[in-house]
Amino acid sequence: MRLHAHCSELRPGVVTTLSTELKVPSPLLIGHDILASLPAALGLHAFDHLFIYIDQGIMQHHGAELHAVCVAAFGDKVRLDVLPQGEACKTFWMLEALLEQLIAAGASKRSVVLAMGGGAACNLVGLAAGMLYRGIRHIEVPTTMTGQTDSCLSNKQAINSRQGKNHFGIYHAPLMIWVDTKYLLSEPARLKRSGLVEGIKNGFIFNPTFLDYLAGKLKPELTYSAGELHELVLNIIRSKLEILKADPSEREFGIVLEYGHTFGHGIEWLAKKHGVSLIHGEAVSFGMCIAARLSRRLGLISDDTVALHHHMITEKLGVTTEFPASVTTDGLIDAMVSDNKKTGKQIRFVLLEKVGACFNPEGDYLIGVDLNIVRSVLDDYIASERSRACA
Ligand SMILES: NC(=O)c1ccc[n+]([C@@H]2O[C@H](COP(=O)([O-])OP(=O)(O)OC[C@H]3O[C@@H](n4cnc5c(N)ncnc54)[C@H](O)[C@@H]3O)[C@@H](O)[C@H]2O)c1
Repeated sequence: MRLHAHCSELRPGVVTTLSTELKVPSPLLIGHDILASLPAALGLHAFDHLFIYIDQGIMQHHGAELHAVCVAAFGDKVRLDVLPQGEACKTFWMLEALLEQLIAAGASKRSVVLAMGGGAACNLVGLAAGMLYRGIRHIEVPTTMTGQTDSCLSNKQAINSRQGKNHFGIYHAPLMIWVDTKYLLSEPARLKRSGLVEGIKNGFIFNPTFLDYLAGKLKPELTYSAGELHELVLNIIRSKLEILKADPSEREFGIVLEYGHTFGHGIEWLAKKHGVSLIHGEAVSFGMCIAARLSRRLGLISDDTVALHHHMITEKLGVTTEFPASVTTDGLIDAMVSDNKKTGKQIRFVLLEKVGACFNPEGDYLIGVDLNIVRSVLDDYIASERSRACA
């Protein structure tokens, strides 16, 4: 893989253009402190209205500034609204309210909707844009590590049902993705760490060289300069683009990106149900460690590879979140069975064959495993996490 130039070469204001490499690709424009260039990029696309939706939590940090720049360039074509913070916006109620509001405010097929915030805000707005009049154009301005290196590199737009995550959704490609790494300077460390978990995942599933690179760059306290952060973001983006290049459909080989997510989504959902604060990447980090143990139990990988997960996630990245006390083996299996209803098949997992490769015995990266084995691996994992917490 190509690694980005050293951080000392950071040039604020300079915009680099990449592509999402998907079946319906989107240009991804990335740089540090590049807001001044946004009007020119937007101006390439004719629109009657620009509807801007900004996550409440970043309105003061960066939202007001983005809105002011757009108003200066496009005057009364610009409308602004604020979304509830983070995951709270991914509801059917919010989706309906947003769509009705767009219609009432005069949105047409010539309008553009812009989402600014983390993966949650971009998911909600992307879904609304994909549904309105069977699809209008939208722009994503992700402001978190997860948003910039993971969720914006997928055309998957979704909200949650009352029973699970991302149950209502579609594929809808953004007109453009605008990644300003300056926004990450205000992102809380815990959220940033959670986003970096998916970068580690990219190394485990596809690219051992990238995992080595991360081992050299990650530091638990996350004390990065703007240049270091920019370099890290660019390289994690490139690590995911390499995977998407191999499967622009996101449905075949791309399924390896779900490593750790079958367990992770179940853990995240159960934690939320019991009022425990757990961020997506933290749940996925538990999920990856469990998937590694399951791969070990099936004789696919060594103890050393299992230990490498712990080393990268806990020692290198500094994720020390306690496994939620409310998550039990039975509860997690029930949550996974319920979440899996959408496939109509038994629960299946992405498993590791070695560092950098997922198991694919019969042309399918999703592997069904005897639930008794899964149960036993979960019992062992949860017991070891509980004793670690007591130590
Ligand atoms: N479509 C996909 O393929 C995909 C991939 C990964 C994650 N996701 C989704 O993304 C969501 C998680 O997104 P997330 O982790 O980006 O968090 P988020 O969108 O839930 O936001 C979390 C919090 O961070 C705050 N915030 C955002 N940017 C900030 C900044 N720069 N400075 C300070 N605070 C800031 C927000 O106000 C919010 O309170 C989940 O819903 C997940 O399902 C989707």
